[in-house]
Amino acid sequence: MINILLNGSKGKMGKAFTEYIKNIPDFNLEYSIDKENSNLFNSIFKKPDVIIDFSTPASTFNGLNYAVENLIPIVIATTGFSKEEENIIKEYSEAIPIFKSSNLSYGINVFSNIAAILTKKLDKVDIEIIEKHHRNKLDSPSGTAVMIADNINKNCQNKYKYIFEKNKVVDKTKDYNEIGFSSIRGGNIVGEHTVMFIKQDEIIEITHKAYSRNIYIEGAIKAIRFIINQKNGLFSMNDLI
Ligand SMILES: NC(=O)c1ccc[n+]([C@@H]2O[C@H](COP(=O)([O-])OP(=O)(O)OC[C@H]3O[C@@H](n4cnc5c(N)ncnc54)[C@H](O)[C@@H]3O)[C@@H](O)[C@H]2O)c1
Repeated sequence: MINILLNGSKGKMGKAFTEYIKNIPDFNLEYSIDKENSNLFNSIFKKPDVIIDFSTPASTFNGLNYAVENLIPIVIATTGFSKEEENIIKEYSEAIPIFKSSNLSYGINVFSNIAAILTKKLDKVDIEIIEKHHRNKLDSPSGTAVMIADNINKNCQNKYKYIFEKNKVVDKTKDYNEIGFSSIRGGNIVGEHTVMFIKQDEIIEITHKAYSRNIYIEGAIKAIRFIINQKNGLFSMNDLI
């Protein structure tokens, strides 16, 4: 039996996770934590085997600090961390196994690798990432959009700089070393990401659309099974696909 602590249990993802794992015989949701009982971290008697975090960047650190103090593996699904927070998470992964992905969908990670391959094959190309999400999303651009750009950059000697809110930029696109980001928010869109490769006289466009949160939950389940068997370090979906 895998005993789980869920941080962010009352949110959209937390609720979906709670429902989904009712049908997984070896998963036991031992602790459900959200804003109103976040002080529970101070009084946990029996340590969970793993923590899964679908909350907010500030509250992720409640779970993360508890995980480091008690040497418990953690899956961080929350997005919107600052550079400094990202660095702290990396530092903490020297003490415990941490799985962190801005998008736990298997499909989007394959999609992200295809975007990197296309970038390498095309020269003199303007790259634009357009992401669409539901009206309550707190961060922008989405963590997934940045993850896709980081994956492109990692495969291209980090030559791209990021132009956020590109739809508001009124200057010329200066060089072929920029990735532009544009965000659209509305209704209940689960998540859509388009990467446009725009060349003189032709455009290649690839799009991933999420129709249900289950794709993230299925990824979270795989990530939990993976991380509980790892030594210390920082892991991502690329370690699973
Ligand atoms: N990695 C992925 O695949 C993936 C997929 C979907 C969403 N997300 C990310 O997961 C996070 C949660 O998404 P959501 O759609 O459920 O958001 P949400 O706003 O519906 O839920 C966030 C929850 O965190 C809770 N929270 C606030 N302060 C807290 C505290 N101090 N302690 C514990 N909980 C606290 C809120 O009360 C809320 O219930 C977001 O950052 C989102 O971008 C990641």
